[in-house]
Amino acid sequence: MPFAVARSLEIADQTVSIYSNSVSASRAAGEVIARTIRSAVSVRGKAVLGLATGTSSILVYEHLASLFRQKDLSFADVTTYNLDEYYPTAPTAPQSYRRFMADHLFDKVDLAANRTHLLDGTVPEAFAADHAAAYDDWIKSDGGLDLQFLGVGRNGHIGFNEPSDIGVARALELPTRLAELHPITLADAARDFGGDETRVPRRALTMGIAPILSARSILVLAFGASKAAPVAQALTGPICSELPASLLQTVSEKVIWILDEAAARDLG
Ligand code: GLP
Repeated sequence: MPFAVARSLEIADQTVSIYSNSVSASRAAGEVIARTIRSAVSVRGKAVLGLATGTSSILVYEHLASLFRQKDLSFADVTTYNLDEYYPTAPTAPQSYRRFMADHLFDKVDLAANRTHLLDGTVPEAFAADHAAAYDDWIKSDGGLDLQFLGVGRNGHIGFNEPSDIGVARALELPTRLAELHPITLADAARDFGGDETRVPRRALTMGIAPILSARSILVLAFGASKAAPVAQALTGPICSELPASLLQTVSEKVIWILDEAAARDLG
């Protein structure tokens, strides 16, 4: 079996599936998304997905595109909402998440252009808040997200909801908005900007914690040793706004984590 689970754990009521490497883990994650699409389409006639970017998502999208090529999966009844976008950023910029999604998924499957949504990195700043609020409304009017796909930052961010000291109650209410990027995020993002951190936009539009946690199911992926500490803190540490991924514990029953052995290292 190419994607046989190495071990499965239940931690803080969250399902954690650990695979020997990121290739088999990515395929397993692709299968979770494919199953969600098939079941939502058969029950409701459509599937609505929240999507993530980042290196951890690349092989997942490759697997979904291969299922489409093999005629095992159609995206004709799928609508997507991505988590985040640098601000300001043109959709055509090589580092834009719109570009990333076109390259890795949108241009490879039968997704209609008016069903692939990203926050708009060209919106005038004075209208950024209206645009972000409209984005949350679009998701609600689409019936909510069947599945939210997430990566985790080295600092425990989800989307671009960065560590802060605002407290749990306020963090759980965070809507989609324009947000400042954390120093660790800026350092990690530099690799997409020719290694030059000064070229990384200081801000991004991000789906908020509230709409993320409202999804009917949540799939979190983390690969590599650099994610071991934030993963362990998110699953076994206190729920706190300083580590946004720990807020997933508040909706534990609908969260599935898919990890490789390196990212699971500190889970015991
Ligand atoms: C990025 C994105 C997140 C992503 C995360 C993990 O900064 N804003 O949406 O999921 O960080 O990225 P990676 O998979 O490259 O580690």
